[in-house]
Amino acid sequence: MCGIVGFVGRKEAAPILLEGLRRLEYRGYDSAGVAVYGSDGLQVVKTKGRIQALAEQVETRGGLNGSIGLGHTRWATHGAPSDINSHPHVSENGRIAVVHNGIIENYAEIREFLESTGVHFVSETDTEVVAQLLEYYYQGNILDAVTKALHRIRGAYALGILCADCPDRLIAARKDSPLILGFGEGFHVLASDVTAVIEHTRDVCYLDDGEIAELTADHCWVYDAYLRPVEKEHRHVDWEISAAEKGGYEHFMLKEIMEQPKAVRDTITPRIRDGKVVLDELEFSPEYLKNLDKIYIIACGSSYHVGMAAKYVLERLLRKPVEVALASEFRYCDPIVTEKTLALVISQSGETIDTLAALREAKRLGARVLSIVNVVGSSIARESDGVLYTWAGPEIAVATTKAYSTQLAVVDLIGLAFARAMGTIGEEEYAKLLAALEDLPRQLEEVLSHREQIQYLASIYFNHPSVFFIGRNLDYAVGLEGSLKLKEISYLHSEAYAAGELKHGTISLIESGTLVVALAGCRPVFEKTMSNVVEVKSRGADVLGLTIAPLEEAVGKVVDHTLTVPETHPLLLPSLEVVPMQLFAYYVALMHGCDIDKPRNLAKSVTVE
Ligand code: G6P
Repeated sequence: MCGIVGFVGRKEAAPILLEGLRRLEYRGYDSAGVAVYGSDGLQVVKTKGRIQALAEQVETRGGLNGSIGLGHTRWATHGAPSDINSHPHVSENGRIAVVHNGIIENYAEIREFLESTGVHFVSETDTEVVAQLLEYYYQGNILDAVTKALHRIRGAYALGILCADCPDRLIAARKDSPLILGFGEGFHVLASDVTAVIEHTRDVCYLDDGEIAELTADHCWVYDAYLRPVEKEHRHVDWEISAAEKGGYEHFMLKEIMEQPKAVRDTITPRIRDGKVVLDELEFSPEYLKNLDKIYIIACGSSYHVGMAAKYVLERLLRKPVEVALASEFRYCDPIVTEKTLALVISQSGETIDTLAALREAKRLGARVLSIVNVVGSSIARESDGVLYTWAGPEIAVATTKAYSTQLAVVDLIGLAFARAMGTIGEEEYAKLLAALEDLPRQLEEVLSHREQIQYLASIYFNHPSVFFIGRNLDYAVGLEGSLKLKEISYLHSEAYAAGELKHGTISLIESGTLVVALAGCRPVFEKTMSNVVEVKSRGADVLGLTIAPLEEAVGKVVDHTLTVPETHPLLLPSLEVVPMQLFAYYVALMHGCDIDKPRNLAKSVTVE
């Protein structure tokens, strides 16, 4: 989704902005632009398409001179991707440039008002309204104009503003869309995401909702919405820049798939001490947990699929009802939430706007919120009562892999810790599950060592236009993620079904040559699943089976090809089964020549509703 980078200092801004934008490419975008102020005044270059096209246009102009500027990658919402709709947007008098992430909800009303005063708009965007409104309110003090404009607009925004009348400073403002400030010797940066600026500084702070910042080369002031000064806490970003680089792999996605053993190890090891799961970060008493009426899991996309697996795991371990809701639905379904409800919010980015809004709704209704988040200091992490970080490191490919796996591992840790506190697990079962969890990283390495076999099977099946994933119980939860991985990066039609549900309609789509990926690793429902596999096989489907090693022979008798993972504790099965599904999707997409790390129309972090 949209990305922002800003720089003010003593060096040429344009190369820094362009490099920052390149680092934001992974978020997904369709156009890009920069505005730089220098001896030639305010210079703006923007274009539909890739950063490379933008860089070429900048070069054709002979570069942009000036040591202050803003850059933006746009993911179209209001108005199609086009040169004109790209950011920065400039006010009619050409003196105020704005970049924006988010959506201005009342833009139409403000636009109508401004047009009635004679303002001419050039784009179809909601963002241009901000630039024009700033000009309307500007009477020599840009901060005053910003506060007036912000009191008038509704919606979500991270804003970067550059005014030609005060060309030594950038103004930034945030509500519901992430924005960070970075501090350096003789410069300041702002960005929607640390990856854009990590090359220049690791000393950052996160703007909170309603805050406004003013940045010059040597100073940074942060204010609240009424311009009262605010003290901000600095944070140190401690991951290496190489973590956000491909490190010899063809794609970030493959690199991140291969990093899963380490990511899972880093996530679980610090939380296991003396044969026990220790979640120091949390303050939920055993009484509180025992009295829970429900756990409501809230998430989007792949994080929602982790929630689907978590339902099976947590209900089994905690004997409490677990409901899983898509964040975008939760807010508007009049959810039944009480003070005894625990909302478990799952989000890699910690910034997905639907998830954030649902979190706030759950809190408003009285729930306590525990979140599982990968990005430290993100909005969801900050607004939760408790947060368990997944130590996956930065995830760059749009299609999530290592974040999914570490989220699952955190769910297992929660299951173990809470079950012990609530007295719903016996010592022996606890020890078995914990030992299996500790063995996961090694088993993940084993699964990854067979990736050539998966590549071979992808080469057999990549041409099937339509793929169904079927499974029961935890196999079904993994099927949902396997299907999403395949469709998001290879653009093949794919659906996931609970295997027993297929006969209630969808089986009519199965015919000779349809590819069915049958997940059959769940022992308690194995025979039932295999009956469903026989049903599709006898209707002509090509079937690729996925199971645990001890069941390989039984599955192999029915299906065309079989993939296996090592046996683990039954509740941990998804952690292993998901990996061949990720690799299968990856190799199929590779064979189709798709843009794997930046699939069309998708964004890494979805900050619009
Ligand atoms: C986007 C991404 C998905 C992700 C979903 C939820 O759609 O492309 O990979 O699962 O957002 O994101 P979150 O950051 O909240 O986990």
